[in-house]
Amino acid sequence: MANKIKFNKKFPSIKKSDKLYQKALNLIPSVTQTLAKGPQQNVKGIAPKYLVKGKGSHVWDVDGNEYLDYNMAIGPLSLGYAYNKVDQAIRKQLKDGITFSLMHPLEVEVAEILNKIIPNAESVRYSKTGADVTSAAVRVARAFTKREKILCCGYHGWHDWYISVTDRNSGIPKAVQDLTFTFNYNDIQSVIDSIDDDTAAVILEPFVFEAPKDNFLHKLRDVCTKNGTLLIFDEMWTGFRIALGGAQEFFKVKADLATFSKAVANGMPIAILAGRKDVMSVLEKDVFFYTTFGGEALSLAAAKATIKELKNKKVPAYLSKQGRKLKNGYNQIAEGLNMSFTKCIGYECRSLVTFDSSAGNTLEMKSLVQQEMIKRGILWGGFHNMSLSHSNTDIEYTLIAYKEVLPILKIDIDEKDIRKYLLGEPVEPVFRKVGNFNTKPVRKG
Ligand SMILES: Cc1ncc(COP(=O)(O)O)c(C=O)c1O
Repeated sequence: MANKIKFNKKFPSIKKSDKLYQKALNLIPSVTQTLAKGPQQNVKGIAPKYLVKGKGSHVWDVDGNEYLDYNMAIGPLSLGYAYNKVDQAIRKQLKDGITFSLMHPLEVEVAEILNKIIPNAESVRYSKTGADVTSAAVRVARAFTKREKILCCGYHGWHDWYISVTDRNSGIPKAVQDLTFTFNYNDIQSVIDSIDDDTAAVILEPFVFEAPKDNFLHKLRDVCTKNGTLLIFDEMWTGFRIALGGAQEFFKVKADLATFSKAVANGMPIAILAGRKDVMSVLEKDVFFYTTFGGEALSLAAAKATIKELKNKKVPAYLSKQGRKLKNGYNQIAEGLNMSFTKCIGYECRSLVTFDSSAGNTLEMKSLVQQEMIKRGILWGGFHNMSLSHSNTDIEYTLIAYKEVLPILKIDIDEKDIRKYLLGEPVEPVFRKVGNFNTKPVRKG
């Protein structure tokens, strides 16, 4: 019998998952299309690999096991799986068509909605992925400023201009690599040291887990304005989540350009580039940014329905409320057990459980917690990616699970032998690094 969301006696059977995985190893290099969904992020031999169904906050794997999900498709499911009102909107549009030979009215309708809720959205363009729109933003910034250099901080997708700062930079011409530099979050001096008269844009996630300190975002705004450099907010995670209008609304800082995807269409593939009208006007004749599925109507219908629901149900406030219960609950349990080496950090709409290396191997600690959470029917990667579907019952259950799982980690740490209790291979490091990552030497002049 397949496992349920309960305190199961056994780990779930993952036979079908593993069978598919064996086939995929021969056919699909690196196996996954999204690193964060891949087997590297899950304890091998224990965690399921393929999901086939979702409803609300719950998912079912290919072997029929049910889980409470805190990854939520790595961000998109702001409302929850198979959310009725959004699915209805998709079905209604499906009857008329998916994608057309001319423009679709929804392109205009959704632009009008975005224009009202995103502080800098004087102009709007659509595409399909986060990397599409961060890359478009960078190209627009270069065209507008007639400069080439980019300063970035955080993760911005797979395209050449960004991924060249990481150690997965194979296949990218050196000339491209030499134009992107990193700076450190909350370190305004690292921006001041690197910015120069060839800097087209500073792009960053307004926050990841660390909150901006000492007016960092406002200072960044000033530094960019003084230097004639455009400020780009990559709001893939913050957009529609920390506030309906994203970090720009929440922190009251306007960026010149902002990019969105993930939460805006509850799982449908759409991405948004928004920005100042004068800056975006380079898209009229100078910058080429067009793609076949850019105006695809199912995703636009989903975006329209999702935004309506995010607004009507005051979803950002709900995510914060539910997320706070989890975050505070986790920290109380850890403190009560004198486990100061583990904490839940970040804004409540998306928090992260961290482990301190002073207590042991952090990946092994994370893996052990994941293993034990899976046994209790919780799909867990260290994040609480909150959605409207995470109910009080879900949260109460999760905190009971943490109450059982953290003492297991504590015993293993005390015995200094986590591996003994780990029934599979530990997870691998998450690729994305946000601080001090391959910061290139400052190039002046
Ligand atoms: C902040 C941020 N920017 C850009 C991207 C790239 O988006 P996509 O994977 O849709 O290309 C991501 C994806 O996780 C992201 O988190």
